[in-house]
Amino acid sequence: MSQEVIDQIVKYLTPQVPITPISQGAEAVVFLTNVHPYDIGRSYPDAKYIIKYRPPKKYRHPSIDRALTKHRTLSESRILAKLSQIPELHVPRLIACDPYNGCIWIEYLGENLPNNCGFSNLKNYLWMNADDPYNADVEKTLVKVGQQIGQLHWQDYCHGDLTTSNVVLSRRGGEWEPFLIDFGLGSASTLVEDKGVDLYVLERAIISTHSRFADKYNMWIMQGFKDVFGQHGKVGDKKLKDTLKRFEEVRLRGRKRSMLG
Ligand SMILES: Nc1ncnc2c1ncn2[C@@H]1O[C@H](COP(=O)(O)OP(=O)(O)O)[C@@H](O)[C@H]1O
Ligand SMILES: [Mg+2]
Repeated sequence: MSQEVIDQIVKYLTPQVPITPISQGAEAVVFLTNVHPYDIGRSYPDAKYIIKYRPPKKYRHPSIDRALTKHRTLSESRILAKLSQIPELHVPRLIACDPYNGCIWIEYLGENLPNNCGFSNLKNYLWMNADDPYNADVEKTLVKVGQQIGQLHWQDYCHGDLTTSNVVLSRRGGEWEPFLIDFGLGSASTLVEDKGVDLYVLERAIISTHSRFADKYNMWIMQGFKDVFGQHGKVGDKKLKDTLKRFEEVRLRGRKRSMLG
């Protein structure tokens, strides 16, 4: 993580908010803190909050950069706030949003990890289970991942960047509960195209990082996905059929493109 980005955020947050970097993506950096944004000045040793910061991008024109950062930050916050209203869906709670500085604070989901055993997202979880990839725990977790995606699509939302790093696992009642995160490219959408693309992106992510076990993994995810639509009678069946048909079309397009190089 560049020192420049750290300096920027420390200047903005002031030293009263200590931060620990946990991830750096193309667009944002993610930190952990134990200070709540409405209670700055006090720190609670056991509290954990996520700060997601979108630093200015030097390669963009400054005014376009400011507009884009504000747009993505607001859009992620809005969609998180909307999705939190849906009881069947698991997303982290939004705590605060500062679109002008490209910063959001959200609930940290790894807090119940037994002594921080080193993974919080689905990608790391699958790596950790790679020596016993077909165990019942993995199956159960991936079916639940599929159910979360099914719920999202059933409610007519799309994720826009559905990779295995954008699913966080939280330990609840002795089981892993998947939460969808990173909604910067998410939207309300009734389009089967958007849903087909979500499913395709996730399928590719699983194939490219866990290729030996990908068939089983993808099958379990799709099992959970179908479960959700199956609970909604004829309407659910029709929507599922349309979505799966488009998923297949997106897949074919992807294959054609990779053949052309
Ligand atoms: N609320 C959260 N709780 C726990 N871990 C999180 C949370 N949000 C993000 N992370 C971790 O940080 C990583 C990056 O977060 P993300 O929001 O996807 O940002 P990016 O834009 O960099 O992809 C995730 O893959 C996950 O490991
Ligand atoms: Mg991400």
